[in-house]
Amino acid sequence: MKLSALQSFKKNGEKITCLTAYDASFAKLFDACGVDMILVGDSLGNVIQGGENTLGVSMEDMIYHTQAVAKSTQNALLIADMPYQSYTHAQQTLENAKRLMSVGAQMVKFEGGAEHEASFKILQESAIPVCGHLGLQPQSVVEMGGYKVQGKDDAGANKILEDALLLESWGVEVLVLECVPETLATKISAKLSIPTIGIGAGVNCDGQVLVSYDMLGINTGHLPKFVKNFLTGHDSIQSGVKSYINAVKNQTFPNDKHSY
Ligand code: KIV
Repeated sequence: MKLSALQSFKKNGEKITCLTAYDASFAKLFDACGVDMILVGDSLGNVIQGGENTLGVSMEDMIYHTQAVAKSTQNALLIADMPYQSYTHAQQTLENAKRLMSVGAQMVKFEGGAEHEASFKILQESAIPVCGHLGLQPQSVVEMGGYKVQGKDDAGANKILEDALLLESWGVEVLVLECVPETLATKISAKLSIPTIGIGAGVNCDGQVLVSYDMLGINTGHLPKFVKNFLTGHDSIQSGVKSYINAVKNQTFPNDKHSY
């Protein structure tokens, strides 16, 4: 997918599919299956490094994995996460985003809203495409008191909506909404002209993302309710991935069982 196609997906009502990948082999397979976007997520801190959270992931880790994924991604739009403490001020954000772009990322993603105004603006001025990430922000798991659904009360919901509108005004191209009530994600998706990509945010987002290890049943620890194992009933990873893509495109995933 080309960056310029993002808007037409939203306009045409075609759902956008996204999976995380951390190495060349999985990236090649997902790309060949036709996934629209590949995210080198800092979830690698959990699924690759065995950490309890994503806070231990470094810029060097993200560069190593982004480089590997970029080598075998031909069609999907490649997004790389900016890790914990790598975007604390504008100049640092710009330098680190440039490092990820120089190894093959086509867009960078980082968590948070208005508090990162200077970082969003410097990337916009430098023409570096950005994906926002609101709702549950795993890098703030300690401050948020655990992995909890966000925006359940009016104040929380309004703050997420306000941040989403700000991010759009600061040039963000696409927005991940993680673990928010379906009604809130529906409202935000309708108000924004940029696409929203949900994970635990219901079927009305403009696309969906899952951690690939979760959707292939590799991650057998505690799984949140928004996860579905798409390998079940399939005899190859390719077939499981294609069934995820079909389920997102025809809006049979996520259903009420996977939403808040
Ligand atoms: O790091 C990651 O995998 C993510 C997704 C959960 C959206 O940010």
